[in-house]
Amino acid sequence: MKVLLTGGAGYIGSHTCVELLNNGYEVVIADNFDNASEKVIDRIKQITGKTVDVYKIDVADKEALRELFSQCDIEAVIHFAGYKAVGESVAKPTMYYRNNLDTTLTLLEVMSEFNVKKIVFSSSATVYGVPKVVPLKEGMPTSCTNPYGWTKLFNEQILTDATVADKELSVVLLRYFNPIGAHKSGLIGESPNGVPNNLMPYITQVAVGKREKLGVFGDDYDTPDGTGVRDYIHVVDLANGHLKALEYINNGHKGTEIFNLGTGTGYSVLDIVKTFSKVNDLEIPYAIMERRAGDVAIVTADPEKANKQLNWTANFGLDDMCRDSWNWQKNNPNGYD
Ligand code: UD1
Repeated sequence: MKVLLTGGAGYIGSHTCVELLNNGYEVVIADNFDNASEKVIDRIKQITGKTVDVYKIDVADKEALRELFSQCDIEAVIHFAGYKAVGESVAKPTMYYRNNLDTTLTLLEVMSEFNVKKIVFSSSATVYGVPKVVPLKEGMPTSCTNPYGWTKLFNEQILTDATVADKELSVVLLRYFNPIGAHKSGLIGESPNGVPNNLMPYITQVAVGKREKLGVFGDDYDTPDGTGVRDYIHVVDLANGHLKALEYINNGHKGTEIFNLGTGTGYSVLDIVKTFSKVNDLEIPYAIMERRAGDVAIVTADPEKANKQLNWTANFGLDDMCRDSWNWQKNNPNGYD
């Protein structure tokens, strides 16, 4: 089966590409490499011994996308492409709406022209907004606190509406919790531009000496140690969730189905710092700072629906996540640069 990965050179896309290749799928990547490195492609080849077709195109460029579909016999799409920085989305909302919605709309139009009926979409737990109760279940109310989140939710709506209009279309919406970790080879991983916004890349950059210390954003939350609790998931487990979603679609699912991809276990910021220090035998200096605007105390998934219906569970624990994140960063102190 030949699968198109939009944004396939990014952090989650590249790990999904490796798992697909290792499981006998053929892969085509469409990526404009604005936020990803072309080195990723060689690394994927090093890990898998297999090649992928790469189109350096913008997914919102309809003519370029048509050319890709006319040259490759695409049977399913996994749609990762999109901007993903929360703070930047608040500063540049129109840029986020234009890019993240145009890519999905163009993709759906071209898929329809070429009669491609299977799509998995990279959504986020951010669509639950400020949770009233945890763990979060797929049927709980959605709302967002920033334009990035709204683009995820609007894309979910667009894809859902498309399945109402076209009864042959199959859509799986995957709501990711907090992906960390890296492939065990240490050849691919997360390589953010500039100062990392997210916790784990910040910690690994402190560990490698690029940042002085971690700022812990608040220690007065209503959590066991006062720091924010999240549901961290190993990126390889997350990648395998996409394979399960494709199998689910191939087994005849039609319409739209939503799945949380998380472990169901929450860890605090200090749990992460302590575990990272322990398994890697490193000190991570940190200082308690003000809360970050927009953060909430606890976000955890109820992954039962994915466990049962996709036959998917997360296998890696926090020790693996911390070890693999560091293995990637220490082998690539400057990421792909
Ligand atoms: C963030 C985004 C979310 C996005 C997700 C992608 C916000 C408000 N939310 O989630 O929309 O889908 O990333 O992975 O940005 N922390 C520190 N110091 C740091 C960085 C983070 O203490 O330098 C804390 C945060 O306060 C939070 C936890 O670490 O409690 C995780 O933060 P982060 O990795 O940024 O993820 P989220 O905020 O959960």
